[in-house]
This record gives sequence, C-alpha cells and structure tokens, in this order.
Amino acid sequence: MSVLQPGRNVVLIGLMGAGKTTVGRLLADRLRRPFVDTDDVVEREAGSSVTDIFAAEGEHGFRTREAAAIRRVAALRGQVVAVGGGAVIDPENVTQLRGTGDLVLLDADPDTLAARVDDTATRPLLAAADDLAGRLAELRATRDAAYRAAAAESVDTTGRSPAEVADLVLAWARTRPGLLAREERA
Ligand code: S3P
Repeated sequence: MSVLQPGRNVVLIGLMGAGKTTVGRLLADRLRRPFVDTDDVVEREAGSSVTDIFAAEGEHGFRTREAAAIRRVAALRGQVVAVGGGAVIDPENVTQLRGTGDLVLLDADPDTLAARVDDTATRPLLAAADDLAGRLAELRATRDAAYRAAAAESVDTTGRSPAEVADLVLAWARTRPGLLAREERA
C-alpha cells in the first residue's frame, strides 16, 4: 500500500454463504491490505454477538449499528472490506461504501450458499429456516436488484474455490482505475 496514494477499498457484497469473508481474507493477504468485516466491527463496538444484538435490539437495532460501522470503515481507504449480507439494502450504506471503494458482488446458487453456511445459529435471519436453500433463494430473489445496482462487478462463485474467486476479483481490480495502488497492480 502506498503511503501517499492508497487504492480505493475493495468491498465484497452478497448473501450469507457467498464467501465474502473467506475470499476477503485471501484478497487482503495478496494485496497486503488490512481486512475488515463489518459484522466484526459491529460486534466489537457493541461488545456482543450479532445474534445477541438481534435478540436484544431487533433487526432495526442491528441495522443502525451496521450503518454506523459502515460509515467508520468507509472513512478509510486501502482496505479489503466484507459487509454483512443485508448491508447494501440501505442506499445510504451504498453511498458511503462507494465514496471510497468499488463494490464486488459474490453470487452463488442457493444450494451452494446453503452448503457453505455452516452455522445458522450465528445468523439470525436463517436460524428458523427448515429449508435453508429455500430461505436463501427467497432472500436472493428479494435482494438481487439491490445487489446488482450496487455492484461494479459480479462474480459467480458456484463451483469455484475461494482462491479462484480471489483471482477473478484481483484480475478485475487491476483493470479498474484507482482501485489498486500502483505497486498493487504489478
Ligand atoms: C445478514 C448477514 C450477516 C449478518 C446478519 C444479517 C443479512 O452477515 O450481517 O446476520 O441480512 O444477510 P454475513 O453475510 O457476513 O453472514
């Protein structure tokens, strides 16, 4: 990362199970950038888990905290950022994230998403689902337009390893003016 001219943030968006955190860590390693997951920021600032925040404050309380975390994260450049799956449903969050970054949608079919979501207990929006793939298909249908409107690029992760997805994101990022610092494009 250049001290004088850090690149813009690479911001990964998409549903639970899309691989935002796993791919984000790989990208951050390759670019030698800090990796930030906004769910982690929310949990650190609240001193409690996403599940406990939903239980105590409802989804509305969580979204308020998430928006505050996004404002703070978007104030810095030169990071790889993963946001929670519902973050870009709020247009203000998209505006904030776009101010300092380019958004990349990681997509996958619902069966793939369901297979990757190992722990529904930590994901309140999935906790009550009998049919996990069905619930994810429902969320995907309602969110797809917002995801695609927010994203500058989208990558289908179905049948691809995290390393393959990271390669695709990186190849795209190299073509995107200002996203990577000069030395990151080499
Ligand atoms: C949510 C996704 C979760 C977390 C919260 C709500 C959503 O993040 O923010 O449980 O609305 O899709 P991940 O996408 O990182 O699992």
